[in-house]
Order: sequence, then C-alpha cells, then structure tokens
Amino acid sequence: PVNLPGNALPPESQPVEKPLTRAAIFIVVNVKPDDRSLAQFREFCGNLASLIRAVGFRNPDARLTCIAGIGSALWDRLDQPERPAGLHPMRAISGVYDAPSTPGDLLLHIRAERPDFCFEFATEAMRALGDSVVLEDETQGFKFFDNRDLLGFVDGTENPEGQALGNSVLIGAEDPAFIGGSYVITQKYMHDMAKWNAIPVEQQERIIGRHKLSDIEYPDDQKAPYAHNVLTSIDDAEGQQLQILRDNMPFGSPARSEFGTYFIGYARDPARIERMLDNMFIGDPPGNYDRILDVSTPVTGSLFFVPSATLLESLADAATPADAGKTEGGGDPQTDAGGASGSLHIGSLKQE
Ligand code: HEM
Repeated sequence: PVNLPGNALPPESQPVEKPLTRAAIFIVVNVKPDDRSLAQFREFCGNLASLIRAVGFRNPDARLTCIAGIGSALWDRLDQPERPAGLHPMRAISGVYDAPSTPGDLLLHIRAERPDFCFEFATEAMRALGDSVVLEDETQGFKFFDNRDLLGFVDGTENPEGQALGNSVLIGAEDPAFIGGSYVITQKYMHDMAKWNAIPVEQQERIIGRHKLSDIEYPDDQKAPYAHNVLTSIDDAEGQQLQILRDNMPFGSPARSEFGTYFIGYARDPARIERMLDNMFIGDPPGNYDRILDVSTPVTGSLFFVPSATLLESLADAATPADAGKTEGGGDPQTDAGGASGSLHIGSLKQE
C-alpha cells in the first residue's frame, strides 16, 4: 500500500507480526550515558539479525525471534535526521488507579516456542551489550494452559489477524521516514490472587466480558459498562475499530507469592494504546474504570519505537567506537550520520 520512489524495496519490518509463542523473555535496559556505551549499543543494533540467526537456526521449529524497541531518551542520543511522530516518554496516568512511567532505553522482546531458546538468546544478547547497559527489568514469561493469564481467562483471543494485523501494528504512509516500524507499550502487572479468587466467577466474567471456561464473549447488550473488553474497544472518528496486537505473558514465583501479567501491546500509533489505558485507569466516563485493576497493579510502564529491521541495522553506521571515545562527556561525535564506518554493518551481512 506504500508508494516508494523508483524501484526501492520497502523496509523490512522486525518480526512484530510473527505468531505468538509459548515462551518469552522481556528485557528492559538503559544505555549508560558515555559515548563508548552508545557505540556498543549501535554495534549491537547492527549485529542483532545475525545473532537471532545464530541461535535460532539451531532449531527453526523453535521459531526464535527478537524485537528491539528504542525509548525516547535513547532516540535523542542517536543523532537521527528525523523523529518518529509517536515517540515520547511513557505518560504516567493518575486516575482511580495510577499507572507509572518507568525508564527504558531498549526493550528486547524475545519469543520462542521453547524457553531454552529465549534463555540462550538473552544470554548472548546481554553478552553483546556487555557493560554498556544497566538493567531495568527482566521478566521471563510462559503460556499457561490454553493461553490463559493467571486470572484464569484466555488472553489474546481478539488479536487482529491477516491484513488487519499489519494494518493495526505497522507504520505506513502517515510517517514516511519510519514505514514498517511500530510502537510498543509494556507494563508489568502484579496480581492480588487472594482478592481475585474471592470474587465469584460470574462477577469475574462480567469484569472481563467473556465466559471463563469457554472463552465465549458476552453479547454486547449484556456486557457491564466497565467490562475490560468494553473499555479497551475503541473506534476512530469514522467508527472503525482501532486494534492493537497484544502478547501478554504470565510470570511469577509461587514460593514468593508473586503472580503477574506482563502486558505488551503493539500499534502503528501509540495513542490508541494510551486511550485504552486512560479508559482503564481513569474510566470512560471517568470513574467507570477497569475492575481488573482492583487486583492488578502495574509496577513498570514504558513506551518504545520499534524501527524497521532495515533502519535498526543502519543505526550501526553512524560512528565507530574509536571516534566516539574521543569526545566522551562533550561535543558531538556523530555528525557523520551518513555512515563513515560500514564495517559493522557489512560484517553482519557477510556472516550469511
Ligand atoms: C482483551 C486480560 C491489560 C487491551 C483481554 C482479554 C483478557 C485480557 C482475558 C479477553 C480475551 C482477549 O481478547 O484477549 C488482560 C490482563 C491485563 C490486561 C490480565 C493486565 C493485568 C490490558 C491493557 C490493555 C489491554 C493494559 C491496553 C492498554 C486489551 C484489548 C482486548 C483485551 C484491546 C481486546 C478487546 C476486544 O476487542 O474484545 N485482555 N488485559 N489489556 N485487552 Fe487486556
């Protein structure tokens, strides 16, 4: 659907649209403020595709993928000629309940059918990032029975598929410099399971808007006004539904009484996820909030831009580590955004 000049191929997207998997690891880190750390991050961007190939090829059935998202503060350090229209720091929400905004320069959303592939990839990715980053959060997620969250409801049913999927998650002509990119918002929620389990199942079903055992949706005229699937169903001015892609994962530690849901939502415009969050936390109308939040507390909240794979790889081109080291603490080493050092970039392609 996108018009590009000449015979240019459209940028290749990161694997946002790939099917959801049984296992995932979510890693959020901040890149240290010095230029050497930034150069190491750039090198990581150039090598990510080959790292995924190296680990993933050992068994393609494991369907290993990794999506890298870049936070607003880090983008500003990359000296790019343009800025993705929807990229900004996560907006904290203060409503019936509060949603925090927590720091995050880089998100790695690692997915595979097998946890060992996620684990091995996370190990290699962290080795490549080395001491250039400071850990903000790591969460290891798993799929629970028939794709249920720990509240016991099937989670992910109404995700867009087919053409609707790309149309929901990939940036198009509205922001030409970033075609094929996406945005992602993550929130790590902790559940009060004792409180949830004390709620009768019929009331839990009203809170979600679906039947618990069968996963069948309540008819619209029987849904509670505060049902989760009422508050998160939003339309544009023409009445078209604005969809997002969710890949929520349960996580936890039963022995420590920790039970959570790692919410992760992708969209071509983060405003639609932010509208859903406002509806949940402030309420629509205000006060008509999402009762999931009576038993679920977000402890993190971050927004990332997901560049196309093509753009991500090109971030390695801007500066050599040697250049960057010279001007630590001041100056602007990356005036050559055109790419003086092709070596990192070409090196990763050569490994094919
Ligand atoms: C639907 C659980 C947070 C957006 C659902 C469903 C469940 C669920 C069980 C119904 C099945 C399905 O369609 O997937 C949860 C839990 C959350 C959480 C346990 C956190 C504790 C969020 C957040 C957002 C969101 C933060 C967006 C900002 C949606 C959307 C749907 C949905 C868009 C589909 C609604 C529809 O079209 O029917 N969620 N969710 N969820 N959720 Fe969540």
